[in-house]
Amino acid sequence: MRLSRYFLPVLKETPSDAEIVSHQLMLRAGMIKQQAAGIYSWLPLGHRVLKKIEQIVREEQDRAGAIELLMPTIQSADLWRESGRYDDYGDEMLRITDRHDRELLFGPTNEEMITEIFRSYCKSYKDLPKMLYHIQWKFRDERRPRFGVMRGREFLMKDTYSFDVDEEAARRSYNRMFVAYLNTFSRLGLKAVPMKADTGPIGGDLSHEFIVLAETGESEVFCHADLVEMGAPGLDVDFDGDLQPLVDQRTALYAATEEMHQPDEFAAVPKDRQLSARGIEVGHIFYFGTKYSEPMKALVQHQDGQPRPVHMGSYGVGVSRLLGAIIEAHHDEKGCIWPESVAPFGVGIINMRVGDEACDVASEAAYAALVEAGLDPLYDDTDNRAGAKFATADLIGLPYQIVIGPRGLKEGKIELKVRRTGETHEMSPEDAVSRLAERAFADD
Ligand SMILES: Nc1ncnc2c1ncn2[C@@H]1O[C@H](COP(=O)(O)OP(=O)(O)O)[C@@H](O)[C@H]1O
Ligand SMILES: [Mg+2]
Repeated sequence: MRLSRYFLPVLKETPSDAEIVSHQLMLRAGMIKQQAAGIYSWLPLGHRVLKKIEQIVREEQDRAGAIELLMPTIQSADLWRESGRYDDYGDEMLRITDRHDRELLFGPTNEEMITEIFRSYCKSYKDLPKMLYHIQWKFRDERRPRFGVMRGREFLMKDTYSFDVDEEAARRSYNRMFVAYLNTFSRLGLKAVPMKADTGPIGGDLSHEFIVLAETGESEVFCHADLVEMGAPGLDVDFDGDLQPLVDQRTALYAATEEMHQPDEFAAVPKDRQLSARGIEVGHIFYFGTKYSEPMKALVQHQDGQPRPVHMGSYGVGVSRLLGAIIEAHHDEKGCIWPESVAPFGVGIINMRVGDEACDVASEAAYAALVEAGLDPLYDDTDNRAGAKFATADLIGLPYQIVIGPRGLKEGKIELKVRRTGETHEMSPEDAVSRLAERAFADD
């Protein structure tokens, strides 16, 4: 992409209404634009990152055996009356009436709809297990939308639903999602810790929130410090095998959000490993048994011929919230520092003197070679001052920058800068392209 033809409305000033750094940087880097409280347009740069995050989330769901579909944003009120949640959900639900006076709503979540789909087609234990998911916009009329995309009213969520014959089988589905989430967040460059969460009236131990530690997080959390450094299981994990040991390894150590915190249990963690911090909830997994299948009559016939309600769980990832979480975890005073896996472009090319023939020729050649190598470069071919170009490149946080200026070119050299460390390397343009293509500097 050539910057002169792109749409990148960067702001010089930090918007005064943005309280936390990720919100400030997303506005300054021209990634989002607020349209109403908690409702945003995704400008081209933000949209690129959103799509990359979405794709990683999708790949890990697929790997874990979940199957993608797409349900609508608009749902009928009658469906929610079947589960009894239409009245309970309260003011967070955006209720809509159509021209025939039929009551509709903008979905805040999809348990009812997926249960309705399941019961229409699946009647026997032979149809189980099943995990279905979609990645779709949700609307919740939050009382206090804030922090940009972190707590929006309209937001993108990946929600998976599992269907199993009994609780034991449901635990296996739960474990698949638990492990898939660890791998997902790790690919996104995040250290997310699974923490015990409230299961409400259903009880049991099958609810975890995945929390990224950050000072600006909305939740207060307590955990064993070892959990933060524990690596993800890895993409070669066998999802058909026994995942319980991987789950146990993590749930054996203390980790709880404020609502679930047990100070006496926490006190048993060695003093130097006690971590109390703030965190961002990026995912939430939950086994809720027959809470919806019973009232909505989603029954499956068991081997003994008896029909019984199917056991369900739901598993959410805040896809749009993740942009904020990733920036909170990866930035400096100059701007974003994207992990390579989600960077909006792979590398920036800064032509320091547009109009100078040698600079133009070398920049065009580097651009063509990087496109060819599949590195998705963003070429700053504008006639802005070099200082402004550097500031923009640092602000939008591409992992690498190639700086092409007249002085270096006289010696056949350009500069390659690694955004994360700030280190620069002088080399020939050809070397820069081949080293980038080989990911000689890759950090993830
Ligand atoms: N208002 C919001 N804005 C952005 N992301 C949200 C919002 N509410 C929830 N999410 C994301 O969706 C995931 C699943 O939502 P869920 O657990 O149902 O929400 P909650 O924790 O608010 O009950 C959360 O872990 C979070 O990452
Ligand atoms: Mg939650």
